[in-house]
Amino acid sequence: MSVVSRANLLCHPRSWIKPSTGILVALAVSLLCILGTALGAKTAEPAGPLSSGENYRRHCIDCHGVDGRSLTRLGRKSGASNLANPKVMASLSDADIFKTIKFGRIYNGEEKMEGYAQNIPDAEISELIQFVRKFAK
Ligand code: HEC
Repeated sequence: MSVVSRANLLCHPRSWIKPSTGILVALAVSLLCILGTALGAKTAEPAGPLSSGENYRRHCIDCHGVDGRSLTRLGRKSGASNLANPKVMASLSDADIFKTIKFGRIYNGEEKMEGYAQNIPDAEISELIQFVRKFAK
């Protein structure tokens, strides 16, 4: 059977009720379509690297707040640092901040701030350092 007549069979309504190769082909085509859609949806989801603003809103804002002052409920509860305090920020090197974001803060076995090693790539952590420094400027 030529490609053209197979395509015609597919388009022909009667080919859908006849148990013929047409149906098998149609089934295969639908399956491919469903698979294609599923794969397409999967690759479309992670939209590449996130901006610092996006990462901050996703991971940090609940504790450190929109202004970095950590006056949110969770910020007060956890005793989060005031990132808008120039003295606090000046006492921290970029490496300190990097480590805090990547590995979190644990005191006496109690996790005060979780680490983001699994959730934020190193390159985006580096960008977040500059982002949080802006609160104190
Ligand atoms: C569950 C609340 C919570 C979340 C969410 C959180 N933090 Fe923190 N953060 C804290 C606490 C608590 C401290 C203070 C830890 C301490 O006392 O040393 C802190 C401290 C910091 C500090 C100062 C570190 C220091 O050495 O004083 C920075 C910078 C910081 N957080 C950035 C971030 C960033 C960026 C995110 C998001 C990726 C984030 N935090 C998410 C609670 C949180």
